[in-house]
Amino acid sequence: MPVNGVGVTAVAVAAARALESDRPDPLVVDPWAAALVRASEVAVPFPERWPEDIDEVPAVEQSMLLGATYIGLRTRFIDDELRAGGLRQVAILGSGLDTRSWRLDWPDGTCVYELDSPDVVDFLTGTMDAVGAAPTVDRRPVAADVTAPWASAIVRSGFRPAEPTHWVLEGLLPYLAAHDQAALLDDIVDLSGPGSRAVIERAPALTDTPETRERLQTFAAATGIPFDELLARIDPPDPAAVLAAAGWSVAAISVADLEQRYDRPLLADRSVTAAADRGGFVVAIKG
Ligand SMILES: C[S@@+](CC[C@H](N)C(=O)[O-])C[C@H]1O[C@@H](n2cnc3c(N)ncnc32)[C@H](O)[C@@H]1O
Repeated sequence: MPVNGVGVTAVAVAAARALESDRPDPLVVDPWAAALVRASEVAVPFPERWPEDIDEVPAVEQSMLLGATYIGLRTRFIDDELRAGGLRQVAILGSGLDTRSWRLDWPDGTCVYELDSPDVVDFLTGTMDAVGAAPTVDRRPVAADVTAPWASAIVRSGFRPAEPTHWVLEGLLPYLAAHDQAALLDDIVDLSGPGSRAVIERAPALTDTPETRERLQTFAAATGIPFDELLARIDPPDPAAVLAAAGWSVAAISVADLEQRYDRPLLADRSVTAAADRGGFVVAIKG
């Protein structure tokens, strides 16, 4: 059951978690990540072992190690947010190959809704069944597209909008056009009972200037890669502003905050600066 299309990004994140799990000082241990990558039949160029000396590996591998380090921080931060929230209804949108429904120790009576495309949801369910892993929670996979009406699909799976929900948007917003991001955030506001929480990874903003448009157009002309999708991501809504306007209490957490909190510096002075450019996170509570 191979994974295709945008689901491939979920395999890349799983590969990063497999690598994190192999570190001598892991922030997260995901016992299934490596098996999921193998079963996906997607060739992800991630190194499979953490090197003894990072200075000894080629620059391109160093950048993948940097990416994996960021994913380790992100995964651990969101694990900790969910543990601290302790809510009995959790909704993970664009859940990919997230194994929290097997990995975390959930309070009794918790339901976790995992929403992604049918291919990704079926692949995860099928592979975890095949390896004999049992969820530690009432896991409810929901096959849906968040850019189309999705509320009825999650409600049909048992989701109760009047109850407090812990929402997780991890690595999802960057894949959505700005107007789809705005609509999704509005849906979340509408589906949240009092006491709901959210942890949202921001999509880094591309500001809409003539220079940006020209740069993207030049890139498209040179490579043949259509740029319309990137233009659609220009000036995305700020989740902090949307949720604050809806009356939620909001805090911004930067990647630098997480580096400090978990004593895990990203090697940002190395050749790749992508991680330093990321937009960080928004955490919010509906009072
Ligand atoms: C980078 S992966 C992140 C997966 C997971 N949150 C994690 O951190 O491991 C992005 C995920 O978003 C899903 N996704 C992208 N666009 C989507 C959409 N319109 N509706 C539902 N899921 C979507 C993809 O299928 C993919 O699994």
